[in-house]
Amino acid sequence: MKKKVSAAAVTVAAVALVLVASAAEASHGHLKVGYYEKTCPGVEKVVKYHVAKAIEASRGSGAALVRLIFHDCFVRGCDASVLLDPTPANPATEKTAPINIGLAGFDVIDAIKADLESRCPGTVSCADIVVYAARDASSLLSNGHVHFPAPAGRLDGAVSLAADAQRDLPDSTFTVAELIRNFRRKNFTVEELVILSGAHAVGVGHCSSLRARLAAPPQQIVPAYRSLLAAKCGAGPDPVVPNNVRDEDPKAVAAAFPSFVKKLRKAKDFLDNSYYHNNLARIVTFNSDWQLLTEKEALGHVKEYAENGTLWDEDFSDALVKLSKLPMPPHSKGEIRKHCRFVNGHHY
Ligand code: HEM
Repeated sequence: MKKKVSAAAVTVAAVALVLVASAAEASHGHLKVGYYEKTCPGVEKVVKYHVAKAIEASRGSGAALVRLIFHDCFVRGCDASVLLDPTPANPATEKTAPINIGLAGFDVIDAIKADLESRCPGTVSCADIVVYAARDASSLLSNGHVHFPAPAGRLDGAVSLAADAQRDLPDSTFTVAELIRNFRRKNFTVEELVILSGAHAVGVGHCSSLRARLAAPPQQIVPAYRSLLAAKCGAGPDPVVPNNVRDEDPKAVAAAFPSFVKKLRKAKDFLDNSYYHNNLARIVTFNSDWQLLTEKEALGHVKEYAENGTLWDEDFSDALVKLSKLPMPPHSKGEIRKHCRFVNGHHY
């Protein structure tokens, strides 16, 4: 039965809603699509040029850029703190954290920044470059299916601590409850957790990140795929394997997993909803991926996105925009860095 609500309660609720809305606006209200239109015209074309060049040389660099936005924005907001190199004064920056294993794409960001500094010095933040680059990488890797106007106007932060990355980023060993809690802390829903995890359609992971999967029972991972991973992981100290079985080496698949040979694709690192098909078929690399099948709501969304690739393209675009709006902690100081690996005033 519906409860009766008094007029006074409605007024209080309405005022509270307005206050919440304006607080949210204040935290990222300054972000704007086309932010550099007057101060650095053509900035988005320059970024896209470099991202396209990097992807042409290696599609893996596109995957690295898609991961970079997540690892930047989930830690102290989107402030390029993930890009800062360790220095004697701060030897443990975010990128040195174990959770950031394999993080890459820094060279592409450096090339973009150098180009933009020569065109419009001191104008475009590294934080905005990370967002534009991730947007362009997802668009190029998906043949344009993932696309969105990217708001900009972020500043670069001066604080970067490995401990913050370790605390805020999810680990591949997490249970579904831990993943949900981790995303909720950043105001992301179970649905958005499932949507964003779809990024694991591309890129690679180190065997150390999927160790538990090599011993997981058949209800959690198809034994033939587990054998394939075990064989590859036995080949060196900590090799990498593709996140998407579709990108596997045909010989390895023919040997361990012949039924899958016909599903292999020529275009590696193609960003689409294949992650959800693979997940339902129990052929994904990380424990955290498989965990999404163990909770009712998450499983419902995995099925939804397996069935509707177009919906995933759209929802992934929206989720990346939301990710890109995570603000720096209150009262943080920001600047436009001259070099993305160092705060200004650093002596090279
Ligand atoms: C849901 C929690 C998540 C966990 C536990 C997780 C974990 C991981 C791990 C362990 C790796 C491999 C690292 C390595 O061993 O080298 C990886 C790779 C990757 N992740 Fe995630 N991830 C999560 C969410 C995301 C999100 C939200 C995105 C982007 C929107 C993302 C994008 C990627 C990409 C593209 C790669 C491949 C990177 C490359 O090839 O360079 N991940 N992730």
